[in-house]
Amino acid sequence: MNSTKFKNLSKPIYIGKVRLKNRMMKNGTGLFWDDPSTGGFMNDKYIAFFEALAKGGAGLVVSATSPLQVGPLPGFKIISDEYIPGYKKLAEAIHKYDCPAFLQLFHLGGMSPLFFKAPAGISASSIPKNESPRPGFEVAREITIPEIHDVVELFAKAAERTKKAGFDGTELNGGCNHLLNSFLSRAWNKRHDEYGCQTMESRARIFIEVIKEMKRLNGKDWPIIALMNAMEVDLKDGITIEESKQFAKMFEEAGADAIEIRSEYYTWTKDVKRRESTHFPDAYFYPDHEGRLEDYVEGGGHGAGANLPMAAEIKKAVNIPVICMGKMDWEMGEKAIRKGKVDIISMNRRLLADPALPKKVLEGRIEDITPCTSCMTCFNLGEHFQPVACRVNASLGKEREYEITPAKKKKKVMIIGGGPAGMEAARVAALRGHEVILYDKENRLGGSLPVAAMVKGFEREDILGLAHYLNIQVTKLGVKINTGKEATPETVANINPDVLILAAGGKHNIPDIPGINGSNVLTGMELHRQLKFFFKFAGPELLRKLSAIWLPSIGKNVVIMGGRLHGCQTAEFLVKRGRKVTIVDTGTKKEIGDGLIEVFLKPYLLYWLTDHGVQILTEVKYNRITKKGLTLTTKDGIKKTIKADTIITALPLEPNTELAKSMKGKAKEVYTIGDAKEPHLIFDAIADGARIGHEI
Ligand SMILES: Cc1cc2nc3c(=O)[nH]c(=O)nc-3n(C[C@H](O)[C@H](O)[C@H](O)COP(=O)(O)O)c2cc1C
Ligand code: SF4
Repeated sequence: MNSTKFKNLSKPIYIGKVRLKNRMMKNGTGLFWDDPSTGGFMNDKYIAFFEALAKGGAGLVVSATSPLQVGPLPGFKIISDEYIPGYKKLAEAIHKYDCPAFLQLFHLGGMSPLFFKAPAGISASSIPKNESPRPGFEVAREITIPEIHDVVELFAKAAERTKKAGFDGTELNGGCNHLLNSFLSRAWNKRHDEYGCQTMESRARIFIEVIKEMKRLNGKDWPIIALMNAMEVDLKDGITIEESKQFAKMFEEAGADAIEIRSEYYTWTKDVKRRESTHFPDAYFYPDHEGRLEDYVEGGGHGAGANLPMAAEIKKAVNIPVICMGKMDWEMGEKAIRKGKVDIISMNRRLLADPALPKKVLEGRIEDITPCTSCMTCFNLGEHFQPVACRVNASLGKEREYEITPAKKKKKVMIIGGGPAGMEAARVAALRGHEVILYDKENRLGGSLPVAAMVKGFEREDILGLAHYLNIQVTKLGVKINTGKEATPETVANINPDVLILAAGGKHNIPDIPGINGSNVLTGMELHRQLKFFFKFAGPELLRKLSAIWLPSIGKNVVIMGGRLHGCQTAEFLVKRGRKVTIVDTGTKKEIGDGLIEVFLKPYLLYWLTDHGVQILTEVKYNRITKKGLTLTTKDGIKKTIKADTIITALPLEPNTELAKSMKGKAKEVYTIGDAKEPHLIFDAIADGARIGHEI
């Protein structure tokens, strides 16, 4: 039954002749699940995910192809007729659930993927690196006019194949830094011919020719969603909202049936060589946004709904549906549709995290939605051309393998440790019908998640949402939860489980040097202990707020031992609280930030730390801690003391081998999972928990 709370989201709408049963859609996403050695043909893994999406209640799903280029780029191709049968199967799978299927078509243009040294592409103009909006890209060659005509045909023919495969329409991607966008934007388009930068008409010409040619080949009623950047934020000569309103009108006149918007956000750094851009608004706000925010960027949510004011402007300009993308959610979508700011919301990562999200929203089962934590693991994998996977949804790409099937033999499963690995194992095991008993020595479930959330903050990564979701799920599934109780071998003997899962987390790594027990040292273990003590009285949200004015155990000058993920994030936390921070690490410069997401987040945080005066010393040897600070030997062999009021250890965790030893043979099956086995990231913990939950 539909929840009355989301009545605007639940209303049907038409894109051209195609009826969407509700206002939530999934736009095209490159998942890199194809096998390039077979030529990029459709496969069952992809079909299974799209089936899950359609079954999950989306009003429209859009699958993505490889760029419309012949070459080494991976992705499912549609560049010739032999690919049609594969897409036919995909369309049929989606249509089983009263869900229309569109296919996104795009040409990468001059955009070379960040971590793949693709050969330089073609773009509206060839711009030298030092003048390029994206100096990290290889310098593209200027596309010739005959090539433009070929590209127009390439798009139209691909749409024709899509139609033959039984799809319902095209999402024409002219956003990002792709080829079509390079013509629209004066920052990218420097030419002066009929496709040049001199007028709005000449800039929009190629886009309009593609729309018209697609319609000519496939019929006037072939639905097309025109996807474009409503703005290129913080980019000199970038697309402005006034311009995109005009483009939207022109696309509508050319026959587009809907306008879908997102924005390309250019990084705030003044150093041109480091300039990057992202279409993830939450990444733009990471780790902070300093300076003036451009008009029409909604800044209150640190990226959430940041493009909504732009969508509202576009909506004033056209009479066809307007779709808004970029960290949208059901609450803001419902409100925006009600207020007439937008017609449809497109959610990408949220539907990777939970393909059944639309159904759950409409049924009012919000607490059952697996929350996307905006960690960017998925996109990072894609940028490395690795199969996309999700931190919180271990079933992504394993829809058939991880389909919930009742266990052949119901077992008594005892789990020690209520962190992400333990809770996910409990959730999956309980779903499969096992009797699950969960122990955690702390008073609340979540393991290190609340501490991580408190340090990372809540604006971008929804770590608390994840802890909350897992907690609710295990509770609803009837897992017997014992918090505040340490499970000993005797406890295990009393319970006598068939399966014992050890998920008690990793061990803190504390350097064994003189002075480490001094009162000026705060070890990772002590920090966790203190925070967990305070969590008895206040949640992480309140504690984080309080920490802005009150951090009694941390002095003005701080040295952090360890410059990997934990060290860098602790440094950010402390700099934002007025501390002067030095990071020291025994590893190389390359190892600084290890564990942070390579795409956008790691470079952004490292820029930010250096821009905020954090000194980073690598390849050091720790000698001793005195009242004055940390004495170390630099990589050049010089002994020096880094003055500090407080020294914090933030070294990577170690496996918890003692627990495994003490529990050996205590049940027929004993498994160690997550950080207890091998400390990694939340992604790995959840993947491990899900795996064991499915295996037992
Ligand atoms: C793994 C991944 C692959 C993506 N691939 C595409 C793509 O092929 N085409 C596209 O238009 N956008 C792509 N995007 C970007 C999304 O369309 C969207 O702009 C972005 O995820 C922000 O929306 P969200 O906050 O709802 O995730 C991709 C995003 C992710 C995470
Ligand atoms: S990997 Fe992270 S950002 Fe991507 S969908 Fe999953 S939780 Fe969201």
